[in-house]
Amino acid sequence: MKAKNPGPAILYEGTIHRFSDPAFAEIICTVYGFLQQFPLSLNIFDSGQNQLYLRRLHLLRWKTARNPFLRETLIHSLERQGFNPGDLYLDSVRFRCIPPDFQNHPQARGLLCWHRDTYYANPACQINLWLPLTDCDRTNGMGFFLEYLDRPMPNNSSDFDLEAWNRSGGFQAFRKKGKDIRASTGLTYPSVFDPPPMEEVYSPPVKRGQALLFASRHLHGTMPNISGKNRYSLELRFFTRTDMEKADRRLNVDDKSRGCFAASFRNGADNGLCPRALWSGYQEGLRKGRNPA
Ligand SMILES: [Fe+2]
Repeated sequence: MKAKNPGPAILYEGTIHRFSDPAFAEIICTVYGFLQQFPLSLNIFDSGQNQLYLRRLHLLRWKTARNPFLRETLIHSLERQGFNPGDLYLDSVRFRCIPPDFQNHPQARGLLCWHRDTYYANPACQINLWLPLTDCDRTNGMGFFLEYLDRPMPNNSSDFDLEAWNRSGGFQAFRKKGKDIRASTGLTYPSVFDPPPMEEVYSPPVKRGQALLFASRHLHGTMPNISGKNRYSLELRFFTRTDMEKADRRLNVDDKSRGCFAASFRNGADNGLCPRALWSGYQEGLRKGRNPA
C-alpha cells in the first residue's frame, strides 16, 4: 500500500517526520567512501589543518552534489514516503560536516544560528530531508523550537539578498584569498535576534539509517557539537508544485529576504529546471502587499 503523503502535516502542523529506508545503508556507504578519499578527521582549531579541512570539505560537497546515485536514491526514498517525484522540485544534495566544538571557533561559529530557511529566500512551503550519517542526539543533532512555527520573531532577514549571496559563493561558499581559504560568504547569516531559551529546544534522536523530514520554516538550527566527533549529514531541500502554486501566505510568518532560491530547483522525474512561471507566480502570490524593505 502506498504511504500517505506526509507533506501537509509537515508544512502546516510542523510535524517532524522521522523514518528509515533500506536504501540509506548504501547512501551512507557511498559517502563514507568519499570520506576515505578526503578524510575530515582534522583539528579545525589548528590553522594548517583547518585549511586542509576546508579544501577537503569543498571537494566532498562537490562530489556529493554531482553524484546522480545519491540524488536518485533519495528521490525514490521520498516516493516511498508518499511523494510523487513528478510533483517535486529539489535542490542539489548537500553534504555537511559539523566539527566538534565548532561553536567555539571564530569562523565556524556562524553555523550556530537559529533561523528559518525562509530568511535565506527559500520558499515557505519547502520541506527538508535531513539524513545524518552518524547517530545524532542533543549533543550533535538538529534543534527545533516547535512552538515558534507560526509565531513571528524579530530577525535580520531583510539584510539577505540572494543575488549578492550567490555572488559571494552561496550556501556552500568556498573562497580563496591568496593562500587563505574561507568557507563563508562574508555576508550576514540571517537569524532571530533573540532566540528562545535552550531549555525549549527539541532535538530528536536520529539513529544512523534514519532521516527527518521537516518544514524548513521551523525555527531551527544546529546544536552545539559537544559529542567530541565530527557530525556528517546529507540534506535535500524540496517543495511540491502544488504547494508552490498555492503560495499560501500563512506559511510565511516573518521573512523579509529578497530573491527566490526555488528558481534553481529541478524536477524529481525529468530533472527540468523549476519553470519561471511557477517560482515567479509564487513570489508574487506570497509577497503581495508586503513592504519590500
Ligand atoms: Fe536551515
